[in-house]
Amino acid sequence: MKEKLYYICSNCGFKTTKWAGKCPNCGQWNTLKQELTTKEKSSKLNIVTLDKLDSTETLFFKTNQKYIDDFLGNGLVCGGVYLIAGSPGIGKSTLLLQLSKYLIENNNKVLYVSAEESASQLSLKAKRLNSKIPVCESNDLDEIILAIKQDFDVIVVDSIHTIHFSDIDSFAGSINQVKYCALRLIETAKEHNKTLIIVSHITKEGVVAGPKALEHLVDAVFYLESDDKYGYRLLRATKNRFSSTEPVVIFQMTQSGLKIVEDAFLTYIEDTKEAEGRAIGAILEGSYLMFIEIQSLCVKSPFGMPRRTSVGFDLNRLNMLLAVIEKHLGLPMFEFDVYLNVIGGFKINNTFVDLAVVASIISSVKSIVIKNENVFLGEIDLLGNVRKIKLPHTLKQKIKDTNIKLFTYENMPNINSLLKIIGQGH
Ligand code: TYD
Ligand code: MG
Repeated sequence: MKEKLYYICSNCGFKTTKWAGKCPNCGQWNTLKQELTTKEKSSKLNIVTLDKLDSTETLFFKTNQKYIDDFLGNGLVCGGVYLIAGSPGIGKSTLLLQLSKYLIENNNKVLYVSAEESASQLSLKAKRLNSKIPVCESNDLDEIILAIKQDFDVIVVDSIHTIHFSDIDSFAGSINQVKYCALRLIETAKEHNKTLIIVSHITKEGVVAGPKALEHLVDAVFYLESDDKYGYRLLRATKNRFSSTEPVVIFQMTQSGLKIVEDAFLTYIEDTKEAEGRAIGAILEGSYLMFIEIQSLCVKSPFGMPRRTSVGFDLNRLNMLLAVIEKHLGLPMFEFDVYLNVIGGFKINNTFVDLAVVASIISSVKSIVIKNENVFLGEIDLLGNVRKIKLPHTLKQKIKDTNIKLFTYENMPNINSLLKIIGQGH
């Protein structure tokens, strides 16, 4: 047995072998506390070949809601640990109460541990959702560990930031508490083969003692986000050990909880007016298509150095696309100041909107109005070609039933054909 002495900062979790009055990482005074770690050296290593191991079939807890089960990859995995993150008020508790309700209706045993809201607060929400869910109101780590050991299949812990372990001398929500409590909960869940869902907050700026610190400890990480324009809630996965991270579920918050939106993309263009300098682009989110309005304003530059401004789209990529337009379409972009705006506060880091960006710029420079039903989807390379993209078959079918005309590499292999189509007054 080997013993080692460490000092750990109770504020930020910084670990050092030398004591100091001030934490070298976060600058707080008197926060370094002594800790002894014992490393047990195993004298025997147990190595087996994989075929000798017993493999039992994975057990899934299904919700019987097609979109949610598909998103999870056939349901929640027995013994899987999930993290759901999102900013406060986005609807995490609502989503998990609904998920619990669906699981219970499908004969699974679920316990909802509420460390943040009182059971009566939660019952108000649950009433709106018309559900009967067993709830345990506690923010004490030992109590919650006890709850995990009870006879339930799935345990929801809402939220990790309000759980406290009394032996750690820092407040609930500090990085030390969050990490330690999460580790103990995960250990217990794995040991007893229970499915655990942990709720975590993120701040507007990103993270504080938040999901990033926990991401590598769990099997799957889901984010619940909001889009600024229509207030939809997007559930997306950034990590999923059991399935693909591609599917996304889009919800709308209603009086009776979150409702799944199937054709979200249609609403995005219903209420917009046609004008010069605008084009509708699309991004593919799993099997959903989301429409996004791109506006450009190109005005003759009074100086030799044209000005380029972009909101919601990468400026370097805009400059690249302007160079491609200049080279392959022969438009004198160097004479124009270009202002680009992605409407609705979206920040796009997806190259699928390239074609719409170029379309909106041409529309502005040439003073041509592009019709609303034309939607552009495709990445453009330096040679002016539109790159291939594979659209899910079901999506193609859905688009066929509308008056939308989708331009992708199939009917628009390069930006020369874009100029032709816009020029024809489409
Ligand atoms: P909540 O799930 O508590 O968010 P989080 O757990 O992420 O902090 O709920 C967020 C908001 O949703 C809250 O302002 C109330 C609203 N809401 C509805 O509009 N309809 C409903 O049926 C429920 C339960 C909540
Ligand atoms: Mg909540």
